[in-house]
Amino acid sequence: MQNSMRVLVIGNGAREHTLAWCAARSPIVSSVAVAPGNAGTARVGQNVPVDPLDAQAVAAVARAQRADLVVVGADDPLAAGVVDALARAGIRAFGPTQAAAQIEASKVWSKQFMTRHGIPTAPFEVFGDAAAGHRFLEGRPRTWEQVAVKADGLARGKGVIVCDSDVEAHEAVTSIMEQRVFGDAGRAVVIERRLSGPEASVFALCDGETARFIGAARDHKRLLDGDRGPNTGGMGAYSPTALVPPGALDDVMRRIVRPAVTGMAAEGRPFVGFLYAGLMFTPDGPHVIEFNARFGDPEAQAVLPRLETDLVEAIEAALDGRLAGTELRFAHVATCAVCLASEGYPEKVRDGFPVKGLEAVDPDALVFHAGTIERDGQLITKGGRILTVVGRGSTLAGARAHAYANVERIHFEGMQYRRDIGEGEALTPCPSPTRGEGSSGRAASSAAGGEAPGR
Ligand code: AMP
Ligand code: GLY
Repeated sequence: MQNSMRVLVIGNGAREHTLAWCAARSPIVSSVAVAPGNAGTARVGQNVPVDPLDAQAVAAVARAQRADLVVVGADDPLAAGVVDALARAGIRAFGPTQAAAQIEASKVWSKQFMTRHGIPTAPFEVFGDAAAGHRFLEGRPRTWEQVAVKADGLARGKGVIVCDSDVEAHEAVTSIMEQRVFGDAGRAVVIERRLSGPEASVFALCDGETARFIGAARDHKRLLDGDRGPNTGGMGAYSPTALVPPGALDDVMRRIVRPAVTGMAAEGRPFVGFLYAGLMFTPDGPHVIEFNARFGDPEAQAVLPRLETDLVEAIEAALDGRLAGTELRFAHVATCAVCLASEGYPEKVRDGFPVKGLEAVDPDALVFHAGTIERDGQLITKGGRILTVVGRGSTLAGARAHAYANVERIHFEGMQYRRDIGEGEALTPCPSPTRGEGSSGRAASSAAGGEAPGR
């Protein structure tokens, strides 16, 4: 097996660049391809054009590449059953099946699943028609003073409306169900009680039976500093976060992540892949805001560089059902990931501009590409989120300073980014590295170094 595996990553974002970068560093990997990839992934492997939603085309690329392992990064191809199609074609693919990806793809299914398995989440009701939704809002329990209204289906992370008033709640039902602003994703809605508390995400690598903690992070979904402006795919993230100290992590694994993995197996939908638990730490303990069936973006860029264990070996263990006997190790390092976006993001973007200054970035800062193409040897912006710059340090404050010192060396026309990623927690020292699931750690290892992911 040494140095002989061929890995294919499906997707074109900075999360997929991070996955490809991890694969390229693996001692058991001989080559990496990314389909369709971006200008950054072209520097860690070979880019191959494909529509990630076209399962047959993805299978054809995997065969042509003689891939030993395919890793699917994003929600849409997972929900479309790309992993199932690859498995039917005899190709080893990592990620949940379509049935298991329901935990993200249908909020109705996901909430009902949590209820069946006693996983703490906000109380909720499901509605298949708008009139019933409006009636419920009028007569709802007093304890439900404020609500969140959620489109059932995938809506590029935008299908949730957190309402401050009754008027807003009714408007949310109208826009999702009657005006179908999120298309068919709004055929049904979940109306749930609004919770409050700080939010963080916990990621687990799962083999269908066993879940292993693989990192926790906090992302920043709003466009502007101070959590203002429209929701985006994510403007930055940092890891670890003191919101999920080792004690709380044990609780999250015991009450949320393990029951989810056990429940999925019991329901005949074993979850193999990265499980993303979006959590709110309420006065009554951690509650699930949402499950996702994949790594977060930009959370992957913050979390995966902290992993000391070889990611490909860990994925292989998950695919073989060997996670119970596999330990994951983490570097004693904090990361701060800052997304650089185009002018106009997340609405109508202006792109097509040269990216300057990457050659000036420190060798130990990481730059993962999302919306980049190469034209005549020049890097050009294409899309909304363009790059994620990841700084590292022994404290979050150090990681933040490292990230922003490098962000300032990069420039493209209209570049926008948040200046407050990780700010609230920046003075918290990096906790001891967690081993496995927050149990007492092994001796700390030094910060992960070197090997830039390609500028
Ligand atoms: P989601 O797409 O489900 O992660 O929701 C997007 C954001 O809406 C979350 O990150 C929360 O900040 C907020 N949110 C969702 N559900 C609730 C809830 N029940 N109470 C308060 N905030 C919520
Ligand atoms: N950063 C949020 C997500 O990946 O859904």
